[in-house]
Amino acid sequence: MADFVAVAREDELKPAQMKRVVVAGKRLLLCNSAGTHYCVDEMCSHEDYSLYLGCIKDGKIKCSLHGSYFDLTTGQPTCEPADSPIRTYPVKVEAGQVWVQA
Ligand code: FES
Repeated sequence: MADFVAVAREDELKPAQMKRVVVAGKRLLLCNSAGTHYCVDEMCSHEDYSLYLGCIKDGKIKCSLHGSYFDLTTGQPTCEPADSPIRTYPVKVEAGQVWVQA
């Protein structure tokens, strides 16, 4: 299993902010939703479009191209047109840093 990698300071992201990170060669998004950190694939599962251009709301991330929302905990789309999930990755906060395992 891959090691956790530090990707941000614990206080770096404000609620509803996100940061692009690369872990183990994968392009990921670190997201702060209401003070909790999540990590998901950067690219939408519907078309090759960056979710970084979208926004975070109520534990979900919205794709700004066609408007699908994805649950940040499960990666499942909660509305069309996307019908397949994005990947989610384990996150922990420790020693003042946010760590991701990918
Ligand atoms: S590219 Fe994200 S919903 Fe279409």
